[in-house]
Amino acid sequence: MDILLRNITKRFGNTVVFEGLNLEIRSGEFFTILGPSGCGKSTILNIIAGLEAPSEGEVYFGSRLMNNVHPRDRNVAMVFQSYALYPHMTVYENIAFPLRMKKLKKSEIKRAVEEVAGRLGLSGLLNRKPRELSGGQRQRVALGRAIVRRPVVFLLDEPLSNLDARLRVDMRAELKKLHRELGITVVYVTHDQAEAMALSDRMAVIKDGKIQQVGTPEEIYRRPANLFVATFIGTHPMNILTASVINHSPLKVQLDGIVLELPFSLGEKTEKLLLGIRPEDVVIDDEGMIEAEVELTENEGAYLLVDLEAEGFSLRARTERELSTGDTIRVKFPPNRLHFFDIGTGMRYNLKVRE
Ligand SMILES: Nc1ncnc2c1ncn2[C@@H]1O[C@H](COP(=O)(O)OP(=O)(O)OP(=O)(O)O)[C@@H](O)[C@H]1O
Ligand SMILES: [Mg+2]
Repeated sequence: MDILLRNITKRFGNTVVFEGLNLEIRSGEFFTILGPSGCGKSTILNIIAGLEAPSEGEVYFGSRLMNNVHPRDRNVAMVFQSYALYPHMTVYENIAFPLRMKKLKKSEIKRAVEEVAGRLGLSGLLNRKPRELSGGQRQRVALGRAIVRRPVVFLLDEPLSNLDARLRVDMRAELKKLHRELGITVVYVTHDQAEAMALSDRMAVIKDGKIQQVGTPEEIYRRPANLFVATFIGTHPMNILTASVINHSPLKVQLDGIVLELPFSLGEKTEKLLLGIRPEDVVIDDEGMIEAEVELTENEGAYLLVDLEAEGFSLRARTERELSTGDTIRVKFPPNRLHFFDIGTGMRYNLKVRE
């Protein structure tokens, strides 16, 4: 079911969480809302679930206006940020609970619970109480309790936040599989960009109640709409360098000691801009035109993260080469991996490629 948020404003007293927010979530997709703490992510889920009413604006499921539809009648299941299981009930009873409320037959309930438990790897734990489970197992019970109702929309608010790093990655894969198998619409909230990148068909990046960009993980990683998105997305933050424009077409910029000639035309009449390049895109190459000294290395297992001091600016690079502090190397920037931003507004410049 498509979910449409149209012109939503939400206030709590004098606090405006967002104003005129528009969002379209397509039927069957895994859609993530990503942003830092306090930006309004949970509020958006609560509005979709009907647990909060928008101050202004409309919520549609398909073509149906939902503003006045009771949460119970929305066919939406939500796993809350602080999920709570019933401590006195077993795993079986916890998962069965929503079906018992719907007064389903015992045999039907049994079949549904066993199916969900199997899917989530809980079959051997059905007789345990929540306190006898690990954090990850509890989280799976909470998921089980939500999906057993076969909702058409599944709302997940940071469902993996209480898990250790390893388990998060495992559960991430489980969630993705679950989404594929059930084919339902998932709206997923997280402040973890890696999780958003790994899971989403599409995602919205939000800051201070404003949508910064909506797109596939690939689009957002390759063409971040502004400086915030550029630095928020990516395992290691993008390098951002201040450059002076020497020539607009072909673009020629100066970065302290060096001049880069680039196969682009810059339409804007600016004298300075911000140039971005991700650490994984900085190429260490003896033919590179930028000389740099290795200041610090950090071993990440599969690769090294190195802090470089180039000709007047600092730079971070990712490499599989073995480098040590004090080494002098040369690097280059592949032009198609460069990002350009307005120095005042932080908005992306989409430069034309010159033939
Ligand atoms: N019931 C409420 N009354 C007053 N202010 C609220 C209420 N609920 C949320 N807020 C405020 O609205 C803003 C958005 O809150 P929300 O819970 O949606 O953020 P979030 O993005 O989910 O944050 P987190 O990542 O920390 O969970 C915050 O500034 C919060 O303090
Ligand atoms: Mg929240």
